[in-house]
Amino acid sequence: MSWEILVTCLLISSEFIPDIGLRHTTAMTTDQLTGQLPIVHDLRNSKGHGFQCMVFDGLYMPPFLMTGETAEKTLESIRDIELNDDDVIICAYPKCGTHWVWEVVEMLRSGVIEYRKQVKDTQELELIYKEGADALSAPRTLNTHLYLRMLPKQVVEKKIKCIQIMRNPKDACVSMFSQFRDTIAPVGFEGDLAEFTEIYLSGQTYFGSYSDYLLTWKAELARSPGQPVLKLFYEDMKRDPLKTVKDIAGFLDLAVTDQFCEDIAHSCSFKKMKQVDKDLKEQFIKKKFWKEGSAGYYRKGEVGDWKNWFTVAESEKFDRIWNDKMKDSGVTFTYSP
Ligand code: A3P
Repeated sequence: MSWEILVTCLLISSEFIPDIGLRHTTAMTTDQLTGQLPIVHDLRNSKGHGFQCMVFDGLYMPPFLMTGETAEKTLESIRDIELNDDDVIICAYPKCGTHWVWEVVEMLRSGVIEYRKQVKDTQELELIYKEGADALSAPRTLNTHLYLRMLPKQVVEKKIKCIQIMRNPKDACVSMFSQFRDTIAPVGFEGDLAEFTEIYLSGQTYFGSYSDYLLTWKAELARSPGQPVLKLFYEDMKRDPLKTVKDIAGFLDLAVTDQFCEDIAHSCSFKKMKQVDKDLKEQFIKKKFWKEGSAGYYRKGEVGDWKNWFTVAESEKFDRIWNDKMKDSGVTFTYSP
């Protein structure tokens, strides 16, 4: 998601809080969807560390996402986006590799080894709504952290291709912690990793918990038989990027050469993309977002970095909670390179 926008909007809304009367509550209710300011739920822990979220259709989300301007600019409008047969939607929980897959798909479909100047946020459904999606030219590589039931109705009706990227939850948790630690207030997280992990596993954060994300997608897909979804794992993509590029090309019915796939795998390596992010990418919103000197979105890009962060006891506790929630999920992750 575009965390720059989040910062901007939170900064703006915090200026206006007394006037617009944002209501703070810990109750989990669905907000009014149109023309109403969202209820902001204060989910901070006893130390005052944590997040303030709105609720959309049962999901915790950054409060800026619905500003009550017009119906077209609300999350609800996403359901009515008209889709083209060649639209593709990348679906992932935050920090699982959306930037990477998005660049690969864009290159594959453009037919040339050329990086997009735009960031993937320019095609992220919960940031652009119907209005923004309608304005994009085809072919669109849309992306989202939302559940299937919140996506355009035509995803299911027209059997639009979705690509889902998943990542082992310990690396994803560390990645998300690092992002919030490195971003400026009011989005930044001032607590430690142990506190964050608790928040992460319980879902008291933007887009809820990763386990709920995976279980909800599984349940919703089961109700939409025949939905074309390519499931990818970050760890597989790291181990064999060429195979993943070829799998994506096959899924999208693209006639591409092995050499072209190899060039894409190489051009979309972590090192290259980190450099491109500095040299070429246009920011979606030009606001200070990252703390001085932080690594930004392209932090480390490795499998197993969590071992540098969790103690053995913390790791075992994580496993117990995660495995308990996910025991019937059928998903298994790789935790080491
Ligand atoms: P780390 O914080 O572990 O480095 P998302 O794109 O969903 O926000 O995920 C961000 C994570 O993907 C970050 O993980 C980032 O470094 C990693 N990432 C981005 N591009 C990558 C690439 N080309 N290869 C490997 N990892 C990449």
